[in-house]
Amino acid sequence: MASGPEEQPRHDVDLVVVDIGELATPRGRLARAGSALADIDVLENVAVACDGGRVVAVGAEAEVLARITPRTTLSADGGLVVPGLVAAHTHPVFLGTREGEFEQRLAGRTYVEIAEAGGGIRSSLAGVRSSSVDDLGAALAPRLDRFLALGTTTIEAKTGYGLTVQDELKCLDVLEAANAAHPVDLVATCLGAHDVPPEFVGRAADWVKVVCEELWPAAAGRAAFADVFTESHVFGLDESRALMEAARANGLGVRMHVDQLTSLGGAELAAELGAASADHLEHVSDRGIDALAESGVQPVLCPLVPLFLRETQEAPARRMVDAGCAVALATDFNPGSCYCMSLFEVMSWGALRYGFSAGEALTAATLNAACTLGLGGDRGTIEVGKRADLVVTDLPNHRHLTYELGRSPVRAVVKDGRVAYRAGEGRE
Ligand code: NIG
Ligand code: FE
Repeated sequence: MASGPEEQPRHDVDLVVVDIGELATPRGRLARAGSALADIDVLENVAVACDGGRVVAVGAEAEVLARITPRTTLSADGGLVVPGLVAAHTHPVFLGTREGEFEQRLAGRTYVEIAEAGGGIRSSLAGVRSSSVDDLGAALAPRLDRFLALGTTTIEAKTGYGLTVQDELKCLDVLEAANAAHPVDLVATCLGAHDVPPEFVGRAADWVKVVCEELWPAAAGRAAFADVFTESHVFGLDESRALMEAARANGLGVRMHVDQLTSLGGAELAAELGAASADHLEHVSDRGIDALAESGVQPVLCPLVPLFLRETQEAPARRMVDAGCAVALATDFNPGSCYCMSLFEVMSWGALRYGFSAGEALTAATLNAACTLGLGGDRGTIEVGKRADLVVTDLPNHRHLTYELGRSPVRAVVKDGRVAYRAGEGRE
């Protein structure tokens, strides 16, 4: 007997997410710029089927369930479902926090004053240098749990608190071990040029030489990216160019902290180098914005950082979007300039500080963030063929992504097609 379309063979899949109130996702594999940043799909009454770690169907729930038999179902209970969030800029490998510096800033001292008095990045070195891979891993693991609980499924993770060749490589070992052990995916960045180590003060050029000639070659193949803090009190433009050209010559991708505290022209340099990302940009010039737009270098903006540092200058995010830049949003989670792991919070602050719509904020924290890591073809949207990384929230619609602050809306997180976290139950 001939079988009609309604009698197509059913097939089994690992997981179907049902009872979705709204599914909101950007589309495609490429970073979205200009007006396309806001352009997300908002679907109702759909189900998402996952198998072998990938999304295999997104469609009307009744149709999906008519042809697919799930081995497991996950109910979204009428909540909003979005792609797993992608943290494009974090510094999670450290021991010990710096709440004393936070309090000093409340009393009126600046980030640079505190750094120049021996605080800042250099004050995080002792903890990392005196710790084993296991100790640092034990400090990192609960942070990754929290990232996951907050809906983040992929994290760019920088070293940068070791600042000897050996200690930077130790931090890469920590990231490698955590990536193997934890459901969250880590993309390692070697930030050997985070600061001039205390042993090299007054002779920064010697540290630049060590990084270029010893650290980058040793990090190649172990980190995806190299990074530098380009700033007047750290590495200037010529040093940064030398560092990043050497990183590239060793096969490392290039990310850069630029124009964060002063307008040094770091954005122009990132554009000249064709960096994977130019991060911070609070003090970027109009020329810098044009250079980023023309080169296609993606800005990674961290709206919580000036708030946390009590700096008044915001990144000119709207001008960047209007110029055609494919902006990403990030936490910059670290012990000094932003002790926050929540990309939901960042999306809200992207709205409040930059005027981003919910669609713009979502694209910037998912697809565009993934594209800065070269992973846009694999994640950052909920589409057939992509990795099945999803966040089930209790939000009634996507506009609440930016509207609501101060609480995690996450009900469950699916990573690689498996439920990796449920609120109230923790990691699975
Ligand atoms: O991205 N800008 C440089 N690095 C960090 C701050 C790190 C720290 O203070 O420990 C940042 O803001
Ligand atoms: Fe940073």
